[in-house]
This record gives sequence, structure tokens and C-alpha cells, in this order.
Amino acid sequence: MAEILRQGNVWHLRNGSVSYALAVLPGGVVAHLYFGPRLARVSADNLLKHAGLPGAEGFAVQEFGLSRLPQEYPSFGLGDLRAGALTVEAPDGTLAVDLRATGAEVLPGKPGPEGLPATFGEDAQTLRLELKDAHTGLVAELFYSIFDDCAAVARSVRLTNAGAEALTLTRAFSLCLDLPDADWDFITLSGAWARERAVVRRPLVPGEQGTSTRSGASSLQTSPFLALARPGADEDRGDVIGAALVYSGNFAATASVDQFGTTRALLGINDQDFAWRLEPGESFRTPEAALVFSGNGIGGMSRAFHALWLDHLLPPRWARAPRPVLLNSWEAAYFDFDADRLVAIAEAAKRAGVELFVMDDGWFGRRDDDTTSLGDWEPNLGKLPGGLGALADRVRALGLQFGLWMEPEMVSPKSELFRAHPDWCIHIRGRESIEFRHQLILDLSRPEVQDFIVDAVSRTLRESGAAYLKWDMNRNFSNIGSAALPRERQRELPHRYMLGLYAVLARLTKAFPDVLFEGCASGGGRFDAGMLAYVPQIWCSDDTDCLERCRIQYGTTLVFPPSAMGSHVSAVPNHQTDRVTPLESRFAVALGGSFGYELDPRRLSDAEQAALRVQTDFARRTQALRLTGRLYRLCSPFTGNDAAWVTVSEDRSRALFTLVRARAVPNTPPRLVRLRGLDPARSYRIDETGEVFGGDELMQVGLCCPLPMGDAASLLYALEAVDD
Ligand code: DGJ
Repeated sequence: MAEILRQGNVWHLRNGSVSYALAVLPGGVVAHLYFGPRLARVSADNLLKHAGLPGAEGFAVQEFGLSRLPQEYPSFGLGDLRAGALTVEAPDGTLAVDLRATGAEVLPGKPGPEGLPATFGEDAQTLRLELKDAHTGLVAELFYSIFDDCAAVARSVRLTNAGAEALTLTRAFSLCLDLPDADWDFITLSGAWARERAVVRRPLVPGEQGTSTRSGASSLQTSPFLALARPGADEDRGDVIGAALVYSGNFAATASVDQFGTTRALLGINDQDFAWRLEPGESFRTPEAALVFSGNGIGGMSRAFHALWLDHLLPPRWARAPRPVLLNSWEAAYFDFDADRLVAIAEAAKRAGVELFVMDDGWFGRRDDDTTSLGDWEPNLGKLPGGLGALADRVRALGLQFGLWMEPEMVSPKSELFRAHPDWCIHIRGRESIEFRHQLILDLSRPEVQDFIVDAVSRTLRESGAAYLKWDMNRNFSNIGSAALPRERQRELPHRYMLGLYAVLARLTKAFPDVLFEGCASGGGRFDAGMLAYVPQIWCSDDTDCLERCRIQYGTTLVFPPSAMGSHVSAVPNHQTDRVTPLESRFAVALGGSFGYELDPRRLSDAEQAALRVQTDFARRTQALRLTGRLYRLCSPFTGNDAAWVTVSEDRSRALFTLVRARAVPNTPPRLVRLRGLDPARSYRIDETGEVFGGDELMQVGLCCPLPMGDAASLLYALEAVDD
């Protein structure tokens, strides 16, 4: 049960598992007190004494008290020597802001933030603190929401210019978390195209450390997430705090250790190349940041995030709904197709038990390669005589659903759209634009561009009757300028772009609630909680090699649930690594996400095609368990030769166990893998072997895993609780 208690000047938000506490000090400075396991009660005294203050009564901004005070939303320039969460340029050109509390209220449920993706929940309680800077007239409202059923707190800030002159925000982070010590490991995700979201863990050191992006998207290279784990914490044990930004654009996630050995974590829109002008009366809303706490290690943190996203973020229509087994044409045909070839692939897919056929890039304009036609969303009648509807009808006549690919945010310089509207792209007037993949980015800050995209996508969905849309985005920002913004607002463009994108996605997903949208950005280049508020799944990586995928999916599940990861079986030799791996292993790994294929089944042997029929049936039968069960990572491919995980149904009656060994090692005993999350008091039967073991034994002794020899060998076991 979520509740918000007030004890004197202390606000205490809590539910069954976590507490979050802050204090409004005399004079109005807001101190952070606590985030962690639920407390019966909390006082400000211990923390303030630790901060060198005689207690709440004795606090004064003078004497550099702020530099030692744990704070909720600090700024720089009035004595706190640490990096702040907020920087505001006052009319006189100075930067200091002194926020003092002027009011507070408790709201039922979870308001806003308007125009931005956010968690929701009628069961939530929200604390709204109002603070004001007397010098500039800036008002900051800090929102804190706590849910009944999640070890999580969601935070965001609304900044309003209540003064008489324009102000400019040059930093407006979403989250500051001040912790009284630095005995933490810092965990972030980093990567590259085809190597997304590798786990990086290192001890905190004095000074600032962190990760950020300025590519215009949450990016292939990193992820809007940070975690602080006690040094001994592993997958199962130890305290871990996770923070994720519900945002898909440029961000910064940092942790700083100061001269007194305290830690400040900051998360929000990257302030490099960011500025936001607030005219009198105007407001700015930061993206939301979600904090989770786990006393059960990194695995517990992940499960807390997964539960939060599944129950309070993803579109409810799709969050726990079955996803069709799909086959995507990209690696099967690339740009080289016509309607007959696609229908032939679809026929083979149908025979294999696939439910949804997806036509990827190459169906529109004059697009036979990646040099042209983005923006010209009319079918290429040379390839698809009869248009989209005719092809979709042929696919549906086979008993399959039809889906397709678009990259709506882009324009090719070689396109009708670019010729008609050369200023609709992001560009700097007078400078040569840099093309990536021969394309430019449409300026989604402009309402007419938003309307164009909504119209083009709506028309495409209506004409094709598509049940699925893959929404791709394949380049970084450069030449960042908008023809529609005045000089003093140019640095607002990256965030205005995100607001435009979210407005477009909100309109389309509202108009087409039954269409399954899958996000994509050169693979997993925009895999974040912001996108997941609109699209329930995201193509996890362009790398479909099953060994590479073990790492990519392992890292992705640190924050995101298996159902969010588009994950396909592809052909061998793999198109990204040239590696040949067994079909069973490609299948076992693809089952770790929203399952599908990325190949032409006609090129498989008869035996392999028969295997696909068994696979699709198995995928369907295990779908609910795999996609919404509790995930326990058991062996990390980042630290060893094996990757293993088990997904356990909420009632602990079923589980699916997967082990993948990268490199065959001769003359070694079979590995014993200790399972997690089972009911220790029940027995489980392994479907594939008929063996029955106690849940306690499987978790304490382990499951003996006789892998076949050969590289990339795997084991996939379905477990079911049985009565002895
Ligand atoms: C990048 C995506 O990640 C791929 O899956 C594919 O859709 C291509 N774009 C198509 O251009």
C-alpha cells in the first residue's frame, strides 16, 4: 500500500518494500534523507549530523552548509561545490539559483508529465513540493510518485518562470540522489552498433564518472540508466539502486564522489547543446526518472524495473498480451524482392507456423538500396503491382497477419519529399549537411512535419490493414538547426524533436491501438523506457548471431523485460559475424525475447523446416511464461564462457531454463547451474528428460547440464511443478 506520511518537516513516501524520505529545513532548503528498504519511521537528525550540521534546526545556507548537505534538487553557485541538477541563466546573466520550499501537497494517483512518456498508476500517491527562487522568480515543482506494488519511486520536475523577465535553463536534470558514502560500484551500459548494452561495472572513485549521449537518441553507445551496487552485490545478493530515464534523446548519467566521500548521482537531459528559454509564465517539464531499490542484488533490481515497466509504463493493451511469432524479410531478401518473392517466403513461413509476416525496407518510392526515397511513402508499383493492399491481402489469404517497416522520421535528399520541402530537415542554413546512410532527419519540432508523418503512417496502415509496424530510425543528429526556430531557441531543438516524436507516437498509437508497434534504430539504438511507453517491443540489435545476442540480451535485461526485446532466429553463416551456430541454440537465444525469424525458410533443409514447426509451437506454448515471468540471470557471458538464465512464472509452477556455451571445452564435467526463483518446497519435472527434482535441490545443489559438444552448444529445459 503506497502512502505518503508527514512527520514534522520530514516527508516519508513508502510502500511494502521501499521508503523515500526528505526534509524541508528551516528556511526552505530541501534535504534528501533516504532511499532504501522500507522504514517504520525516519528522522532527519542522523543524516544532518553526518553532514556536519547540528540537526534540522541549525541549518544555514551560510558557511558553506550546502556543500555538505544531501539535497533533492541542488543548483550550483551558492556554496555547494558539487555539480548541481539545475542551472538557470538569470536576466542579469548570472547562474545561481536558490530554491526554497513554499508549499507541498499530496495528490492521489500519478499526474503528468504532460507531453512526455511516463509511468502511470491509479494506485500511486504523489508528493508535489513547490520551491521558489526569489531572485529570478523561478518556481520548481518536484514530483515524487510511489506505487503500491513496485520497489520504485518516479520523479520529475516542472520549472516555471514566475518572474517578469525571460530566463534560460541550461541544465534541468530529472534526478539527483545524494548518498552519504561512496562505497558503491557504478554500473552503466555501453556498446556500439551490433554490440549494444554491454555491462560495465567499476568501483566509484573520487571525482565525476558517468555516461552520456549527444547523438540525438538514447543511442547504440550507451543507455539512459545507472546503478549503484554495494561492492559485494551480485545477481542475487546485496543492495542495488537503479535509476532509468523515461526518455529517448540525449542524456547524461553521472555519479560524483566529493571531498567528504559522499556520492551524488545525477540523471537527465544532457546539458551539452541544451538550453531552454522560459518567457514569463512558461513552463518546462523534465522527463521522468525512475528509481528502484533491490536488496536482492542486480537481479532484484532488474525484476523491479521489469515489473515497473510492465505494469506502469508499457501500453496496457500490449504489456502482457501474446505477441505473434513473426518472420521479418530483412535478412531473407534485403532490398531484393517483389510481391511474388515475398509471398513465396510468406508461404514457407506459414508452413513453419509463423503468424505474422513483416515486409522490411525497400517497398516504397524508388528504393532498391539505401540511397533514396525515405519520405516517399507510396508503394513501388514495379515491385508491388496492385500496391500495399494487394500484397497484404495475398499474405492474409495464407492465414498470416501482415506487417511492414517504415522509417518515418527520415528523408532522403533523393526524394520527392525533400524536393518539395528542403527546409523540413534538421540543418544549419548555409552549411553543407552531413548525410549518414544517405539520409537526413526530419525536423519533428515542426507541427507540419508531425502532421505529415501522422498522415503518411496512417495512410500506410489503413491501405495495408497492417497488424504490425516496425518503426526504424537510422542516423545520428548532426548540423543541428531548425529553419522554424528563432536564434535564441536553436538549442532547444534536440528536446523539441523528442517532444514532437512523442506527440506523433501518441497520436498514432491512439488511432491504431491494435497495431503492434516495434521500435528500432539501427538495431537497439533507441532502446529506452521513453519509447516503451508507446511501443511494447524494440528490435534489440541488428546482430542476430546467437553468441553475440547472449551478451546483448543479458545487458538489455538489466533494465528492460524480455518481452521488450525483439529477438529472431537468423540464417547461418550469420550475416554480422559469419559464424555458424546450431539452429537449436539460435532458437534458444531468440526465445529470450519477443520471438521471430529473420530468414528465408525455403533455404533451409527439410529437417530444419520441420524443426521450425516444432519451434514455433514451443514458442507459442511458452510465450506467457517467457515474456512476463520473472527473469533470473544465472551465468554471465561477460565474465565466463557460459550464458544461462531461467524465467519463472509468477506462481512458480513453471520455468524455462536456457544455457548457452560459447566455446566447447574438452574434458570438463557438465556444469552444475544453480537455479533461482523456484519454490523450494515443490518438485519440478523437466519436460525434455522426464527427471524430477526438488526446487530446493535445483537452487542449492544445481541442475547438471550435459551440453552437447561443439561451439555455441545449448540446453533448453521446460520445468513444471509436480505433486510428489
Ligand atoms: C536497420 C534495422 O535495424 C534493420 O533491422 C533493417 O530494418 C534496416 N534498418 C532496414 O533498412
